[in-house]
Amino acid sequence: MDNRIEKIIKKVYELKEVRENPSFYVYDSERIKEKIELIEKYSLNNVKLYYSMKANPNHSILKFMSKFKSINGIEIASDGELEIALSSFSADKILFTSPGKTVKELEKSIKSGIKYLNCESIVEAIRISEICQKNNVDKVNILLRVNPDFSVNEAGQTMAGISTKMGIDQCEFFYAYKFIAGLKGINVCGIHVFAASNVLDYNNLITYVKQVFQFVKDAEENGVKIDTIDFGGGFGIDYDDYHNGFDVKSYFEALDALVNDFGFRSKELILELGRYLIGESGYYIAEIIDIKDIKGNKHMVVAGGINHMRLPIAMEQKHPSFVISMNADKLYPEQPFIKEEHVDIEGPLCMSDDLIAWDEYVEKADIGDLFVLRQSGAYCYSCSALSFLSHTYPEEYLVSDSEIVRI
Ligand SMILES: Cc1ncc(COP(=O)(O)O)c(C=O)c1O
Repeated sequence: MDNRIEKIIKKVYELKEVRENPSFYVYDSERIKEKIELIEKYSLNNVKLYYSMKANPNHSILKFMSKFKSINGIEIASDGELEIALSSFSADKILFTSPGKTVKELEKSIKSGIKYLNCESIVEAIRISEICQKNNVDKVNILLRVNPDFSVNEAGQTMAGISTKMGIDQCEFFYAYKFIAGLKGINVCGIHVFAASNVLDYNNLITYVKQVFQFVKDAEENGVKIDTIDFGGGFGIDYDDYHNGFDVKSYFEALDALVNDFGFRSKELILELGRYLIGESGYYIAEIIDIKDIKGNKHMVVAGGINHMRLPIAMEQKHPSFVISMNADKLYPEQPFIKEEHVDIEGPLCMSDDLIAWDEYVEKADIGDLFVLRQSGAYCYSCSALSFLSHTYPEEYLVSDSEIVRI
């Protein structure tokens, strides 16, 4: 466990609002900075980095991200995200990708003048064209989302390359391209090919890049012009061993070689990273409210369950954990405790699968200690069942060694 983080968490825990509602998130700004700087160090000139805000849409996180020169802009997926994004990024730094945009969402984003709108089908392209004509918009820059005939190996979550709702099937691409490029108001700039999230081995993403490059080369030989290739997100973080990470240096070295081989130096390559940029910075902390031995199994009940932290159970992916000892007074001498045993860690909801960790080996824990889950910066707060049972929402803090900011 990291003493620096333990100290910060203890400081946050002293705050009145946390004492009253002892389930909260801490995001370590130093870690976010490290990740951005690592990409900055190894990336290529024609790669443009965007933050995928669905990973963590907190206003203050966006503001923090927007200060880095290497963050070119932000990727959004709804009109709600558009509004939040506009508070930290100008419209010309916004990409909108989503497989089911409403007319209202399309109209709002087109009128605000975003940089790229991804287009998921001929139906959506017709709607975009009609909106342009109705609002006298000269042209909208779009990226056609392709669902290719190949996928990314060993991904945490696969979005394309198999039968999903994403994009235009590769077998219909040429027909769709011709149809869409002929519509009034539409300027097709390139393609969007996001296929997988949480990929840990860079080789698997590089193999996919190579297949996409070949697809682009073939398409260009058949008269299709593709200036921009948006690869979406996908760089993973390790939920089993947080010391292990995605090899950014090797990824960009291999990408550089492919760019050379294909002669794609003048193409704009977009990365919309979420999990990699913010995931490792986050900690979910919940006070241990009770410990019970029921029918031969130990249960640790903590202040927030899937209402505050749903990702582990939703993805069936355990997060690394640790306990911070708080030495709270005992309520009675024989009070239950945990010592070198496997336990389920559960929230306060009236359901038996309200688990944030299960069969977890815990060396020592007492009632009043803090149970902490690492790797909780991405898809955790915002993917939780926050309103279920109307518990108070967990507070969030953006921290550094010198500052704790409630966000
Ligand atoms: C279109 C798009 N771009 C980017 C991302 C971010 O992916 P990741 O968090 O794996 O980087 C997602 C995640 O689902 C996405 O749907």
